[in-house]
Amino acid sequence: MFGIGLRNQRHVNLAALQEGTQFRRGGADHAQIDFRVGAEETFQQFRQEGDGVIFRAAQADGSLQGRLAHIGKDFVMPGKQGAGMGEQLLARRGYSDSRTRSLQQRVADQFLQPLHLRAERGLGAPDLCGGDTDGASSRDNGKVLQECKIKHGDIKIIDIGIKYYQLDRGGNGLLWFGRINFGERAMDNLAENFASLNDEPAFWEAANKHLTRYGPAFEEIIVERAEGSFVYDADGRAILDFTSGQMSALLGHTHADIVATVNRQMASVAHLFSGMLSRPVVELAARLAALAPGLERVQLLTTGAESNEAAIRMAKLVTGGHEIVAFAQSWHGMTGAAASATYSAGRRGYGPATAGSLVIPAPNAYRPRFKNPDGSNDWQAELDDAFELIDRQSTGNLAAFIAEPILSSGGILELPLGYLAALKKKCEERGMLLILDEAQTGVGRTGHMFAFQRDGVTPDIMTLSKTLGAGLPLAAVMTRAEVEQKAFERGFLFYTTHVSDPLPAAVGVTVLDVVARDGLVEQAIARGNRLKEGLVSLQQRFECVGDVRGRGLLLGLEVVADRHTKAPGFELGARIMQEAMLRGLSMNIVKLPGMGGVFRIAPALTVSDSEIDLGLEILADSIKSAQLAR
Ligand SMILES: Cc1ncc(COP(=O)(O)O)c(C=O)c1O
Repeated sequence: MFGIGLRNQRHVNLAALQEGTQFRRGGADHAQIDFRVGAEETFQQFRQEGDGVIFRAAQADGSLQGRLAHIGKDFVMPGKQGAGMGEQLLARRGYSDSRTRSLQQRVADQFLQPLHLRAERGLGAPDLCGGDTDGASSRDNGKVLQECKIKHGDIKIIDIGIKYYQLDRGGNGLLWFGRINFGERAMDNLAENFASLNDEPAFWEAANKHLTRYGPAFEEIIVERAEGSFVYDADGRAILDFTSGQMSALLGHTHADIVATVNRQMASVAHLFSGMLSRPVVELAARLAALAPGLERVQLLTTGAESNEAAIRMAKLVTGGHEIVAFAQSWHGMTGAAASATYSAGRRGYGPATAGSLVIPAPNAYRPRFKNPDGSNDWQAELDDAFELIDRQSTGNLAAFIAEPILSSGGILELPLGYLAALKKKCEERGMLLILDEAQTGVGRTGHMFAFQRDGVTPDIMTLSKTLGAGLPLAAVMTRAEVEQKAFERGFLFYTTHVSDPLPAAVGVTVLDVVARDGLVEQAIARGNRLKEGLVSLQQRFECVGDVRGRGLLLGLEVVADRHTKAPGFELGARIMQEAMLRGLSMNIVKLPGMGGVFRIAPALTVSDSEIDLGLEILADSIKSAQLAR
């Protein structure tokens, strides 16, 4: 770093500025102000050290002395020392509820979305300190500083830096920023500007009082609407949804064709006596059967758990057995038989699982239990070993194996090519049926219409849910004609309120139409490749990214504390998730014993290239910040 005295320096050639250049400005008005150039670290340092950072983005004409054409006003971002400030400010506004999000978070929300995206979404530039220092009169940075001091009275600027960059549209960009401490008036000003509509006390009071807490903590935002790849909170902030809702909004949110179908079908017939048929039901069954040759019988239901209940019930009836084998990292749903076959979470505290619930480990290429001489996963040895144990435990009543082709809640564990065929063989040898649960993998997400098609192995029963309704409750159980015939002969009963309802069935038909019309299966491959390449480059950049896996648009990124030992990085993962949410990216992390924190990344199949790039950009920033905060 080298210093340049600015006192007599009227013109500075921005193009000649180098990373690390430091200016020192003396004089009575500007005592000891440092200008540092290219200073990402300085910026972060300011955030760490001061109450916050004030900054302004500008377009410069080539000299510091030149006129600054503003692309934004002055921004204030609270820093680490100002961490408690959010609480203070909310208290000033009479918000004492500690559940409300801190102001710091709110401000970061505003800032960390790239300006050009805010502009695209008509959000304009965020104006955090109510400042309106006018670019035209800003003859130099010292003047800007002075004006800011006057406008905001007691925001004390301690230190300033400059970040210099090329603008996309040509020309030089300039970001000047200052480390600041806040005084009373500034606090009032900020409180006025930053009260979030997400912090509405009445909403949270009612939520806290009346909602049953059924899982992880609720996100501290109020979602008002959703469209495409984004959900929007009460402040109108766009949050990029990289989990497609609950891994279901396959076509993005509020897709126009789905909206039209719901309106049309709702106005004709939505729900019927369960023994009555309508056209959408028969059409969807025929369409699904055509897509999955060999599985020509279809029952239309409502949720994933329910479809697995039906599949397991059918397998028991048809085989005469009752033992159900599943993977130790599985998730098949929260109801009786499905919950008994779910091992990734929620087993304790609910009494006995169904008798005959057996388990084997899922293959894990990143953390193999059995290794080939070259260190790769010897999944065949693992599978053989596992079935030896099953045979010892079985009372001779094996009915079915239920499996996800890519275990999602289990941390995006992909069954390697060949595994499904081997598993099917194990099942056949024992007279068991193979049930594939394609709740998350079905309808194009993995780059095949159904994930099992990559392997050329057709299961005896397949269940579909989540993606089939693209966000509306619709599930299907598909099976071979002989299995259905046998079940029928034995009096198969699985009768529910919403079985064969026309409204969700019509939505299912539209989902298949849109997937075919818009080439979304192929798109899942192309977009998935782009996303995976981006994630792999993050892995190359950041030590904490231990593994990237999955296929199509169902990908996983495992965060580790130590890449060598693969020690789990739960805390870091949680911090990355928080940082991402601050920046407008919603991702879900799975925490499982024996593994690191795994992000499940599953954007809608309609996601655009630029949305993927935005997600990757935010993820990179979030990892950087989360690491700095360590
Ligand atoms: C593979 C799989 N099967 C079944 C289910 C259960 O579906 P639902 O929550 O609709 O009952 C889930 C839910 O996450 C799932 O991921």
